[in-house]
Amino acid sequence: ETAEKDGFDHYMLKEIYEQPRAYRETLQNRIDHENNKVDLSKEISLTPEEIRSLDKIHIVACGTAYHAGLVGKYVIENLVRVPVEVDVASEYRYRNPIITDKTLVMVISQSGETADTLAALREAQKRDAKVLAITNVNGSSVARDADEVLLTHAGPEIAVASTKAYTSQLIAIYLLGLYLAQIRGTQEDTVIANYLQAIKELPAQADKLLEFAPTMKQFAERYAHYEDLFFIGRSLDYAVSLEGSLKLKEISYVHSEAYPAGELKHGTLALITDGVPVIALATQEDIYDKMVSNIKEVKARDAYVLGIGLEGDQELAKSVDEVIAIPKTLPLLTPALSVIPLQLLAYYAALARGNDVDKPRNLAKSVTVE
Ligand code: G6P
Repeated sequence: ETAEKDGFDHYMLKEIYEQPRAYRETLQNRIDHENNKVDLSKEISLTPEEIRSLDKIHIVACGTAYHAGLVGKYVIENLVRVPVEVDVASEYRYRNPIITDKTLVMVISQSGETADTLAALREAQKRDAKVLAITNVNGSSVARDADEVLLTHAGPEIAVASTKAYTSQLIAIYLLGLYLAQIRGTQEDTVIANYLQAIKELPAQADKLLEFAPTMKQFAERYAHYEDLFFIGRSLDYAVSLEGSLKLKEISYVHSEAYPAGELKHGTLALITDGVPVIALATQEDIYDKMVSNIKEVKARDAYVLGIGLEGDQELAKSVDEVIAIPKTLPLLTPALSVIPLQLLAYYAALARGNDVDKPRNLAKSVTVE
């Protein structure tokens, strides 16, 4: 078993470090470098006519894959301008969703065996929707039953807390979003080319972020004994906050909440008191000033704030206690980077609390019963 961990103490840490490679493998053979285009035509058989006729997309998944779906909503709505709804699979088929033959239902599942996700897939097909699966396991039930499959190439994920599968799902979503945008003509060629350029830089940027491991370890050791911790962000940063909070809960058993920062004043602010740790994500340019105001609201209640911002941002440091600067990329792509420090935080917090990092209590890697 030690050999399989490649010298890492836990599978989770190994898998966190495997992310740059997982990004590269998931991108491989899907970009036409000469023409600056995404090419998924060998994998996805939806015709251009079918793609053009779609009038909405439903994304359905569980757990971490659901959080990737939340990022997917921003990405697809922005690039493709098609309305996207995101549901947890265990709710989806019990809410009588409005599905037609113009609906594309995307299911996201690392294992491809999650019972709720599989049931949602079947429900969607029964109602005439085409189902596109993003999954990490070729030959899994989800891969077999879906009409279309886009594989992530994260490699086997062993730790219960998902890391490289999540970020590989994001990469697959970026590729899919660009591919749909190309076919529907919703983005200029130069915009697509810019995205591809930025996406190609993500693996090296992710590699660089791993250097924050000692900083996150220090922070985790200092705050692992706290009972509550808050993650705040807006827009895509909120979606990433949810994943950061889930990671922390799953393996450190520290209670945490992710909150859309603009909503704090409607309740959660009452829980922010002297010294409460808050992780504040501020990577989204269009909402940056508003986010900084929200950070000031928690600082005014004496929270201890770790800010996650973009390299080159001189402002953030003035409003927070500590800063992690992530390499600059396009706003829609930041989740593939900003989540990495949060994964490291959860890992080191679990370690500091003496938990079984790879096999947390009460949880399973793949939930094959409803
Ligand atoms: C379980 C795992 C989670 C995972 C979820 C969905 O709860 O512990 O890490 O995100 O299932 O799994 P899937 O294989 O469908 O992505």
